[in-house]
Amino acid sequence: MDLLDHLRARRSSLSLTLEEPGPSAPQLADMLTIAARVPDHGKLEPWRFELWEPEARKRMHGELVALIDSKAEDAAKLRGGTDKLLHAPSLVAVISQARAHEKIPEWEQTLSAGAVCLNLLHAANAQGFEAQWLTAWYIYDERAASVLSLEDGERIAGLIHIGSTSVAKTERPRPALDTIFSIREA
Ligand SMILES: Cc1cc2nc3c(=O)[nH]c(=O)nc-3n(C[C@H](O)[C@H](O)[C@H](O)COP(=O)(O)O)c2cc1C
Repeated sequence: MDLLDHLRARRSSLSLTLEEPGPSAPQLADMLTIAARVPDHGKLEPWRFELWEPEARKRMHGELVALIDSKAEDAAKLRGGTDKLLHAPSLVAVISQARAHEKIPEWEQTLSAGAVCLNLLHAANAQGFEAQWLTAWYIYDERAASVLSLEDGERIAGLIHIGSTSVAKTERPRPALDTIFSIREA
């Protein structure tokens, strides 16, 4: 597909519609190499990738489900969010390592991790796969920190679910340009 056509029509597929085939190891390596090619003020590379293999996802799923209070009002919702871990053929965690730096604001490092996530969606699409950028309750819950076992100061910017789908994508509303664009004239 022409690049402009792709950018004009880009959409995510719901992770729960993703199925095999997922990317091969060389395809995934190519995607991640592309994804890391983002603006990065100071060339700090303040992000990294973790591929969560099915066995690791099963283990994490079990540990996370155990943290959900089954009597809580939102227990079903939390469980649904956790179950998404198991579904897609491939799941890549994009991990932000943004931290205090003498010159580069932490905010800019965090933005760079977001750029990596979007770039990974584009790279997956360009390889012929579908993808969705998700987060989940356990990214923000301190009790889940030992399950995710990140280094100090690391945070998950996105869980990028990748696979194939037979479900057609429909358009969703997009902002009219004049509602988000203005010109500063003086
Ligand atoms: C940081 C971030 C976290 C997100 N987390 C979720 C999520 O947990 N659940 C969800 O349904 N969508 C989530 N989304 C939205 C989807 O990635 C995506 O925007 C949506 O599926 C459809 O939008 P699109 O087709 O324009 O990509 C998140 C988006 C971002 C940027």
